[in-house]
Amino acid sequence: MRIGVLTSGGDAPGMNAALRAVVRVAIYEGHDVVGIRNGFSGIFEKDFVAMGLSSVADIIHKGGTILGTSRSKEMRTDEGIARAREILKEEGVEHLIVIGGDGSMKGALALSDAGQSVITLPATIDNDLGYQEASIGFYTAVETILEAVGRIRDTSSALRRANIIEVMGRHCGDLALYAGIAGGAESVIIPEVPFDFDGVKNKILAGKKRGKRHHIILLTEEQIPAYGLAKDLEEATGVETRVTILGYTQRGGIPTGKDRINASRLGAEAVFLCGEEKRSLALGLSEGKIKSFDLREALAVEKTFDRALYDTLDKISI
Ligand code: F6P
Repeated sequence: MRIGVLTSGGDAPGMNAALRAVVRVAIYEGHDVVGIRNGFSGIFEKDFVAMGLSSVADIIHKGGTILGTSRSKEMRTDEGIARAREILKEEGVEHLIVIGGDGSMKGALALSDAGQSVITLPATIDNDLGYQEASIGFYTAVETILEAVGRIRDTSSALRRANIIEVMGRHCGDLALYAGIAGGAESVIIPEVPFDFDGVKNKILAGKKRGKRHHIILLTEEQIPAYGLAKDLEEATGVETRVTILGYTQRGGIPTGKDRINASRLGAEAVFLCGEEKRSLALGLSEGKIKSFDLREALAVEKTFDRALYDTLDKISI
């Protein structure tokens, strides 16, 4: 059997570990594996590469993706989908394993509707996929943010400042929330909770009164402009407020053990599900186990917000 594998969308630490598992388990099971370079774009460019055992040697600990990735525009058109399906057929790809986030899953679903067998693995630092609980890369990005929080807290304490740290996440506050709770942030500003300027301000004022020397505010990107908020907080509290935008530092780096383990389990399971039948599946961690979901249904599951975790953070950071 011939299995195709690609990584797609924004890269996430642990994609390589997932790819390694797919390739190694596929070879173990006697299948032929072909890697597709640069995400779905590689299908149109016919950039297929045979993956042998050593093609994935020495990558389990590496960030990024050795296959490359892209956000393919062609996959958003019906002609593109039909063409991609045609090329995969010509290349004899019976099952396509897609490692990526929600955009990649949508591309995979369109291919599935066109007749291609697909299995997707969740990989995005945002952790914005509602059907599962921890996407590949999420916990590594949380650790990266925590390292920055620690460093920034040192200088914040030295100068008795407040620091706004802007993190990624787009429409999902998990990065800010999880790093906020683990990093002891005073406030987190996330899309799931209406922004409350007075709440943030009062935390700083209360801390100042107690002689607290640092105030960490984690702000999810695309919510409110970080520099404007810093200015307003400084005016309202009298505490100097600085901004750090972590940006793409959150996407790279060495994947944590947890991400490597999840990626390896997901990759292996994807291969086990490749059989005679056409598949249209999304794999993910749920209640600590690797489970498979119907791809369309998985995409339709809305991400639920862990209100209890947010409230805990709010209380701890009083
Ligand atoms: O999907 C992950 C993510 O890192 C988002 O949090 C961020 O907004 C986006 O990707 C940035 O993507 P790009 O690489 O297209 O700039």
